[in-house]
Amino acid sequence: MTPIEFVDLKAQQRKILPELERRMKAVLDHGRYIMGPEVQELEEKLAALVGVKHCIAVASGTDAILIAMMALGVGAGDEVVTTPFTFIATGETIALLGAKPVFVDIDSRTYNLNSSLLEAAITPKTRGILPVSLYGQCADFDAINAVAGKYGLPVIEDACQSFGATFRGRKSCSLSSIGCTSFFPSKPLGCYGDGGACFTDNDDLATKMRRIRVHGQDRRYHHSVLGLNGRMDTLQAAVLLAKLEVFADEVEARTRIAARYGELLRDAVETPYVEPHNTSVYAQYTVQVDKREAAQERLRDEGIPTAVHYPVPLHLQPVFAGLNLQEGRYPVAESAARRVLSLPMHPYLTDAELVRIASRVVRR
Ligand SMILES: Cc1ncc(COP(=O)(O)O)c(C=O)c1O
Repeated sequence: MTPIEFVDLKAQQRKILPELERRMKAVLDHGRYIMGPEVQELEEKLAALVGVKHCIAVASGTDAILIAMMALGVGAGDEVVTTPFTFIATGETIALLGAKPVFVDIDSRTYNLNSSLLEAAITPKTRGILPVSLYGQCADFDAINAVAGKYGLPVIEDACQSFGATFRGRKSCSLSSIGCTSFFPSKPLGCYGDGGACFTDNDDLATKMRRIRVHGQDRRYHHSVLGLNGRMDTLQAAVLLAKLEVFADEVEARTRIAARYGELLRDAVETPYVEPHNTSVYAQYTVQVDKREAAQERLRDEGIPTAVHYPVPLHLQPVFAGLNLQEGRYPVAESAARRVLSLPMHPYLTDAELVRIASRVVRR
């Protein structure tokens, strides 16, 4: 029995190899490995795709969130409201700046921040709201932006899993003050290393983020603010430019594959719920099951890898023990953490593979 890939980057590479080689060779020829012309070309293309004025290409999704919050002036003593059901980077970046993550439980169907609980979490110390568009579906931005507007707070979208998704016809990364994404290799749009980007319509924030990306430098060796080395490598920009050519087709394939998974699994497990006004890019295809370990083992025995995104919500991570948040505090996130299971998801899954995976998920 042939193993199935969780994310098949080789199948994608076979499809785009000539363009990848052409793009990478161009970088080897000009040799401008740092901030070469491909970085600007990528920023222009991504900004146009998302429909915002500015894209700032950076070294990772983590740096994108960090740089966004630095540009907004988040610092010691501030609070940033976010979700506990996410990858560690969301909370980690808040804490790295000396601010405190304040969690709001999630919606049980979308896994995104429950916007009806948001207002109660705002205090005089709140400096921003950082919703995550988890698994590829945008958070509830109409409601989140309304609360933010009422209190004059900026909103940063952690769009590390949702690049290419839409909310009421508008693209993820264009829905708030700043949108931040990741180009980690397994993401719907991924490079061959680490990469990320910040998006904004605000000229002032864009200037600040460009500065922070290069050690807070306004001109060579003159540093007006604290920054970091947060640049995207030219080679990664070249890889992304090659991959952009097939991105729309790949998003379409992901949508088709998710629909097929839905047909095969709907009666057996809880399949992903996508709001009617949203489209998801299915960064993960995540179901809920009763006996997760047994299901994982059954699938593993058949050469089918699975993953759990995420087994421990942020408020129960040892690193955040100092926040003193006990089990039971965010019950919806905690229940999801016990039950979610991500199945293989990439644009090159065949129907035979989907049927094989589904038959193993369904068998009790
Ligand atoms: C929700 C979320 N936030 C932040 C990140 C961090 O992105 P990166 O790994 O590119 O630093 C990721 C990536 O895994 C993510 O899934």
